Amino acid sequence: MKKMVKVVSRPQHEHSLQEDLLKRKEQHVARGFHARHPLFILEGHNSFLKDVDGKVYIDFTSGIGATNAGHSNPAVVDAIKRQLDHITHISFSTSYYQSYVDVCEKLNGLVPIRGQAKSALFTSGAEAVENAIKIAKVATGRKAVVSFEHGFHGRTLMTMTLSAMIKPYKKGFGPFAPEVYKLPHPYQYRMPNKMTEESYVKQLLEDIEEQFFVDVVDPDDVACLIMEPITGEGGFLVPPVSYIQKLRKLCQKHGILFVADEIQTGFCRTGKMFATEHFDIKPDLITMGKSLSNGMPLSAVSGRAEIMDAVSEGGLGGTFAGHPASCAAALATIDYYEHYKLWERAEHIGNVIRKKMHAWKEQFTSVGDVRGLGAMNAIELVKDRRLKTPDEHLTKKIIDQARLSGLLLLKSGIYENVVRTLPPLTIEDSTLHEGLEIFEKTLRHLH
Ligand SMILES: Cc1ncc(COP(=O)(O)O)c(C=O)c1O
Repeated sequence: MKKMVKVVSRPQHEHSLQEDLLKRKEQHVARGFHARHPLFILEGHNSFLKDVDGKVYIDFTSGIGATNAGHSNPAVVDAIKRQLDHITHISFSTSYYQSYVDVCEKLNGLVPIRGQAKSALFTSGAEAVENAIKIAKVATGRKAVVSFEHGFHGRTLMTMTLSAMIKPYKKGFGPFAPEVYKLPHPYQYRMPNKMTEESYVKQLLEDIEEQFFVDVVDPDDVACLIMEPITGEGGFLVPPVSYIQKLRKLCQKHGILFVADEIQTGFCRTGKMFATEHFDIKPDLITMGKSLSNGMPLSAVSGRAEIMDAVSEGGLGGTFAGHPASCAAALATIDYYEHYKLWERAEHIGNVIRKKMHAWKEQFTSVGDVRGLGAMNAIELVKDRRLKTPDEHLTKKIIDQARLSGLLLLKSGIYENVVRTLPPLTIEDSTLHEGLEIFEKTLRHLH
């Protein structure tokens, strides 16, 4: 894979293109769009990004988990170019084209769905979630939806309602969609003192049956429950396997569809093609996006055929839904994942990262928790280990300082005190170690 020459700094007197562009951005772009890193990126190859001033960064963000097969992966870029030479746009609601069907067929064979699966393609992750909810409502004839605290599903009205984290995602945007109810998400690091994981799981599930379904919402009104197998924006919380398995059974008991939002966790990130597989359950519907097409705008809903077909003809669609260039990218991307068994690579990357993170927990008292699955790992930063007071200032400082040293990281979690790592799964070992060195030096410096 193409490598970039590393230029860490430029002479002081040289003009910064970035500063000019930042000024123009402030003048012309709505303030609501605010990047985690104030950089203008010119190009990216595999796990490196280069800004307009020539500075190169190791990328531990993958465009928020959207480029698992590496930036500008040549196999994916070639497939997109070949498609664009034929036609740019058709709209699957006007006439059909083969690559849309090919992607659906491919997904139907991959997703952990019981029996025959069918799929539908859209553009953004939020759109996939919106449509999964539409499908679940029609299939069950029920109106209510259950989601989770700490969850994130998008920025449209329904997905914003399903999500947690008022600031910045929901502030001022109400009223929200009706008939959405939230359950607490398992958070082992912050579970009540003296509880074991087993008693915690038992308590959470008893509360659903004895309180939530009695006081809050009638289970017979609930169309579906939507959950991320690991919360992405919500701090990389990994629920206990027994909790997910029992929750799945509870849904079945009440005729509630189980929707797994795999938009951030899917496509090898956690060491399996889908994170749901770690929990050994079969959801009724799965939403996908991000790394499905290695960074091209494409999302999908797959599910049991009889559920997917509940919506009548014309009930699903969208001008750009399943865009031909994105479908071409998805087919090349999935081939790449399978050819290189990127789930195995994710496992290896995860082991390297977690080993480091556990060592940091020993060395730095601010590292309160280490968690993750496969190559989706995070540290939670606290001011005080006993009280577990979130340290969002330290988190921000670490992310800013790491950037100055050439590493891009992202924060996460409702307390904004989690640093998450989402490197491309194609990252070379030497680059991975270099990135972790920068991360470690940053922690040591700020500790
Ligand atoms: C789990 C999950 N669901 C849904 C979304 C929304 O996807 P999009 O930003 O493509 O609309 C995201 C985005 O981060 C996500 O992580």
